[in-house]
Amino acid sequence: MGQFVVRGGRRLEGTLRVKGAKNAALPIMAAAIMANDIVVLNEVPRLRDIDVMIQVLQALGAKVWWESAQLMIDPTSIDQYVVPAELMQQMRASLFVSGPLLARLGQAMVFQPGGCNIGDRPIDLHVDGLTKLGASSCTQQGQLILQANGLTGTDVHLSYPSVGATENIMMAAALANGETRIRNAAMEPEIVDLAQFLEMMGATIRGAGTSEVRIYGQPRLSGTEYTIIPDRIEAGSFALAVAAASGHLRIENCLVDHLPGLWGRLREVGVKVHEVDAETIEIIAPEQYRRMSVSLNTNPYPGFATDLQPQFMAFLLKVPGVHLISERVFENRLGHARELRRMGAQIAADQRVALIYGGHSLYGAKVSAMDLRAGAGLLIAGLQANDQTVIEGREIIERGYENFAGRLSAIGADVTLA
Ligand code: EPZ
Repeated sequence: MGQFVVRGGRRLEGTLRVKGAKNAALPIMAAAIMANDIVVLNEVPRLRDIDVMIQVLQALGAKVWWESAQLMIDPTSIDQYVVPAELMQQMRASLFVSGPLLARLGQAMVFQPGGCNIGDRPIDLHVDGLTKLGASSCTQQGQLILQANGLTGTDVHLSYPSVGATENIMMAAALANGETRIRNAAMEPEIVDLAQFLEMMGATIRGAGTSEVRIYGQPRLSGTEYTIIPDRIEAGSFALAVAAASGHLRIENCLVDHLPGLWGRLREVGVKVHEVDAETIEIIAPEQYRRMSVSLNTNPYPGFATDLQPQFMAFLLKVPGVHLISERVFENRLGHARELRRMGAQIAADQRVALIYGGHSLYGAKVSAMDLRAGAGLLIAGLQANDQTVIEGREIIERGYENFAGRLSAIGADVTLA
């Protein structure tokens, strides 16, 4: 595995443009399976996870290629319904193709994605929703097999507002007969982006972004051109990097409204957050913070995003005081606390709750990224440490951050690849 090498203690200064959202691009690429003509996508980030989704679509028979900055998907030759296990094992989001495959081919076979470092990640809500639409499901040797002779719109009440399950059901329902109502749906901006893409293809969807989404199935969906929304988690990660390292950062192509749980928090501890306009924000962070206590719960949108929790924990190490983080989305997403302790951080944590004693200096160490967001958190801690930090697992971090070292270096950080 490659490494990031960070030498801390430098202010961040400059302007950064946010890339397209990985977690919007992945379901939208899966939804392209249902088009009867070419789909052209703009602002798709150049990431490992995107490369895996391209391989998944190609394995199904689609033609996928880059034309300079545009990603072209021609789904008209799709004739396979089995997602290769080795691709499923690389990326859980390959599961997103099961709804579209069911809708287009009447069949889908996906490898049961295993758990990962942040939790078991079951897929029961996906399977329940798709079977309610008329699919039959069975599992053989770890493979989930779904079959349907046509899908019929229905009511689906999610027991948890799962992002992926909401997206999978929404996509399958777009080609079902009749109306589907999803209650307790996830409300993340990536859901709204997927709905807007499906509507550009000819679907009729109401209520995306609220807890009740209605989809009126169509007989066919056409190709279209679409631009992916900016990546709010990348924007939040860079904002927390400058809050931890101190400095002045202008973040462009950042939809301010997509991070309702972050900006108020940063202002609370003394970071200046200036909304230049709806797509530009300026962060001015002090060298020191006054003593205080911060408590944070992660929750489904519009609550504080779980994908920013490790980065926020790393930032809190800079703020003198006792802080509490409660991770309420995933059952085991505090593993990075152990790695931060190797850098001198004073954190007590179990699987769900962490107590952080901020304001103590950090020293460089060799640490490992458990998942891509934990890796971003370790990088943010490295920006604060007095000397060199080596972060194992560069490829894991590059799943979600395009040219992370180059872009951090361009705003004053000392980050190199090894
Ligand atoms: C999406 O994952 C994101 N991934 C995750 O981002 C993000 O952390 C997560 O949503 C929550 O916001 C993509 O969009 C590709 P969930 P997803 O279904 O859809 C439980 C990143 O770093 N659950 O909302 O898998 C599950 O165990 C990634 O970019 C079930 O119980 O998240 C978890 O506790 C990490 N049964 C909770 O719901 C199911 O069938 C939230 O999961 C599905 C989920």
